[in-house]
Amino acid sequence: MAKLGVNIDHVATVREARKTNEPDPVWAAVEAELGGADGITVHLREDRRHIQDRDLRILMQTVAVKLNLELACSDDVLRIACAVRPPQATLVPEKREEVTTEGGLDAVSNRETVARAIAELRDAGCVVSLFLDPDERQIEMATELGAEAVELHTGCYANAHGDVQTAELTKLAAAGKLIRQAGLVLHAGHGLTYRNVQPIVQIEGMDELNIGHSIVARSIFTGMREAVAEMRRLVR
Ligand code: PXP
Repeated sequence: MAKLGVNIDHVATVREARKTNEPDPVWAAVEAELGGADGITVHLREDRRHIQDRDLRILMQTVAVKLNLELACSDDVLRIACAVRPPQATLVPEKREEVTTEGGLDAVSNRETVARAIAELRDAGCVVSLFLDPDERQIEMATELGAEAVELHTGCYANAHGDVQTAELTKLAAAGKLIRQAGLVLHAGHGLTYRNVQPIVQIEGMDELNIGHSIVARSIFTGMREAVAEMRRLVR
């Protein structure tokens, strides 16, 4: 049965819009857990546009389910991750101008950098996942570099419609099979919503979904606990 990781970055986005202290992502994490989240995910971006170092430190002490830290392979955030030691770290690409994470990590072209980041995070005791496009060469590289999980980027699937969406789903299912055959754990995320999540849940061996924007958006109207409970019903 797939697990639901709730990404609470955009609770911090609202706070940072006013550089104040509310809404607090720490409070959101408690509500998400009460709604049935199996994990809490945060992305400590290099530009600190939403989650701050303080959030990560407190969440490490308060989250009772699995805390998954998304981070780029850059020295600043790697140093923090290795000091804080979250149970899971997901390596993602990052560009300053982007609105959200665009595309998967290119582990093939950045082999040395990714290898070093994986080694440092594993030494710190983190399970390491790589956020990848459904691309055979990238998945082979993840195995070679010693990652333990791959999170498939579902953005193209989420943005597509009709036959194109069906083709993207087929690609994700094939990549999922390769990931499992390589002995890695299968995760997926990005752009998933209450409307498009179920075909992704049904991919064989799906272990974890990370969903943020859609849940935080719904929580404005229903409250975080209910928004998470509704998504959990779809994921389970
Ligand atoms: N997984 C990864 C690796 C991400 O970078 C993000 C966005 O921060 C998500 C999942 C969640 O995406 P969304 O907010 O579109 O649900």
